[in-house]
Amino acid sequence: MRLRPEIAALAAYSQGRSPSPDGFKLSSNENPYPALPGVLEAAAAHVEINRYPDGAAVALRTRLADRYGVEFSEVIVGSGSSSLLQQLFLAAAAPGDEIVYAWRSFEAYPGFVTITGATSVRVPLTDTQEHDLDALAAAVTDRTRVVVVCSPNNPTGPAVSASAFERFMAAVPAETLVILDEAYREFVTDPSAVDGEQYLGRYPNLVITRTFSKAYGLAGLRVGYAIGPARLLAAARATAIPFAVTEFGFAAALASLDREAQLDQRVAEIVSRRDRLRGALIEQGWDIPAAQGNFVWLPTGEATTAATDAFFDADIAVRPFVDEGIRISVGEEESIERILAVAAALPH
Ligand SMILES: Cc1ncc(COP(=O)(O)O)c(C=O)c1O
Repeated sequence: MRLRPEIAALAAYSQGRSPSPDGFKLSSNENPYPALPGVLEAAAAHVEINRYPDGAAVALRTRLADRYGVEFSEVIVGSGSSSLLQQLFLAAAAPGDEIVYAWRSFEAYPGFVTITGATSVRVPLTDTQEHDLDALAAAVTDRTRVVVVCSPNNPTGPAVSASAFERFMAAVPAETLVILDEAYREFVTDPSAVDGEQYLGRYPNLVITRTFSKAYGLAGLRVGYAIGPARLLAAARATAIPFAVTEFGFAAALASLDREAQLDQRVAEIVSRRDRLRGALIEQGWDIPAAQGNFVWLPTGEATTAATDAFFDADIAVRPFVDEGIRISVGEEESIERILAVAAALPH
């Protein structure tokens, strides 16, 4: 049987390792807290699982449109923002086209590009592990259909500055789709960082993607959303698997949006833990880039595999990037001391 060779060569997305039930799973940038109080109950009360969900996601899209001050047609939802990224890529790019993104960044981008048949163009991060937006803009050619900007950048942590982003948008042709992937936006505390919300309606080629997986703690339910020009989103919607978001997911997302005050409190705790963890690692002598998501980047270089094993021996699962570094998600409070003890003993 003949398969597309590039797909046959593509590995399925690999999930982080799991520790023992008493350990800490800090390998997937998940929220250590369960869903906000009352969310599961509110969701369960609405669900008739013998029926298909609302394929047009009217209630959640209406709610998000109100919240962001945009039209209903300017918001779509998907099975996590991963799904929306893939849908947007499929809507815009085909064999012969290029999709440009920074590297290293979210591991799913290369596979999503391959699925479209287009070619990835990777633009190296700066020495401080940040996007080089001038280089990203310079990499755009007449074959470029999409540029992805990930802020804060997974796995390294820095956010893009608003001023650099505006310069970038001015440099990229208006026919080239720009996706601002803001999966971790809720954790951003740097006031100079880009906030996609500020740019809604301003650029005809900008789509922002966000998710309920991270700050809202609904990773297991798979709900993300994209906001941008209606024509772009209609095309992305056309590539979706029908009914990819469940009614349970819609209801949980809506109930979570009703609990913003509790959300803010949880986010503030994770952010304060993140800043303490980063500060303590810097005190140990590590060179840790800015951390604006719910994770920190430990530059272990060639010692990455050994360092990952050292964490695993302490029952902490982290995400290694061989020969580069380790991404550690900010999880339970009790994990912090244990992370610091392992990190202190690593060569650096
Ligand atoms: C940068 C970035 N974008 C998007 C996603 C997708 O998240 P989800 O599909 O759960 O919304 C992730 C998940 O880790 C991510 O790190």
